[in-house]
Amino acid sequence: MKVGIIGASGYVGGELLRILIGHPNAQLSFATSRRYAGEYVYRIHPNLRGLTTLQFEDHKISIQEDCDFVFVALPHGESVKIIPQLAQTGVKIVDLSADFRLKNPEDYNRWYGYTHLHPDLLPKFVYGVPELHHDQIKNSQLVACPGCMAVTAILALAPVVQSGLIENAHIVVDAKIGSSGAGEKPTIATHHAERAGVVRPYKPAGHRHTVEIEQELSLLTGNSVRISLSAHAVGMVRGILCTCHTFLSKGIEIQDLWKMFRKFYSSSPFIRLIRDVKGIHKFPDPKFVIGSNFCDIGFEIDNHAERLVLLSASDNLMKGAAGSAVQCMNIMFGLDETSGLRSPAIHPV
Ligand SMILES: NC(=O)c1ccc[n+]([C@@H]2O[C@H](COP(=O)([O-])OP(=O)(O)OC[C@H]3O[C@@H](n4cnc5c(N)ncnc54)[C@H](OP(=O)(O)O)[C@@H]3O)[C@@H](O)[C@H]2O)c1
Repeated sequence: MKVGIIGASGYVGGELLRILIGHPNAQLSFATSRRYAGEYVYRIHPNLRGLTTLQFEDHKISIQEDCDFVFVALPHGESVKIIPQLAQTGVKIVDLSADFRLKNPEDYNRWYGYTHLHPDLLPKFVYGVPELHHDQIKNSQLVACPGCMAVTAILALAPVVQSGLIENAHIVVDAKIGSSGAGEKPTIATHHAERAGVVRPYKPAGHRHTVEIEQELSLLTGNSVRISLSAHAVGMVRGILCTCHTFLSKGIEIQDLWKMFRKFYSSSPFIRLIRDVKGIHKFPDPKFVIGSNFCDIGFEIDNHAERLVLLSASDNLMKGAAGSAVQCMNIMFGLDETSGLRSPAIHPV
């Protein structure tokens, strides 16, 4: 399979390159960058030195006949400018930006501040969470990968939201994310002296991923689900931890939760359930998924407050972006879902 990456000089593009270089069924056809055209990719992604002699090319949207698949890893507002033309070539596409994630075009005005240029294409995209939309992804030409915090929260919440066990109008997601979530473009907020060691609440309300989480969980239940998301920047480079506070509408035992989660994720190779009884690693922790495509999920019942706490941890560049994108590509080509994605996390890191 010949695969190209548009926007390969960024953090997500670099992670796609890292995965695809080791993928048994993929051959890198091209990697684009406006700034680094003609430069070896390993100069920008030094972890890839000795593994590839590929050079960046300028962005292209006329795809050669020998390319089977394209990942688009551009900022939102840019993908939408090139994907309509790309899609017409018939090539299969996974877009990593937010441009095709939302079903309701009005949501782009409200949450992203722009009027969608191609609302006609929105119904053609499948939301790229294989744990929820495996069969649709398999039969689709176009997939929109979810936001990193959105997918991490959705995976923790989906089984309980579907079960009717909690109040679906009253869910609080507290998300903590590392600095690579902001991309490679430096700003004062990502400057080392400002960012190192922080636990900075940067979006206590109104984060854009709220609408994705509500969209997907509402689709799952057929009823409106309301999410209160608060996002914090923390002093990690990679990783997300979502602590989801939900409120029980009926009693439940821990064993029932185990059964529910095991059943819901029985065919999901990248979901690990973590609720250990001893040691220090009892619950999900982003430190133990870094570099892997796993999303670790745990739970605890707080009988005092009739609260069910759900915890999920992912690597924002893997399950939160490039890992999920390659998982979707595998499914779209009828390959084993885990192809190229079997490496465990690094420990200690
Ligand atoms: N970082 C994450 O954790 C994460 C997780 C999930 C989804 N995403 C989404 O994935 C996409 C890529 O994220 P990233 O973190 O890799 O961003 P990034 O590090 O900032 O990289 C952006 C890429 O897009 C290109 N680019 C930037 N501005 C452009 C423009 N105006 N026109 C065309 N190309 C442009 C850059 O290439 P040149 O400037 O070299 O041409 C670069 O290759 C974004 O939509 C982001 O929201 C990111």
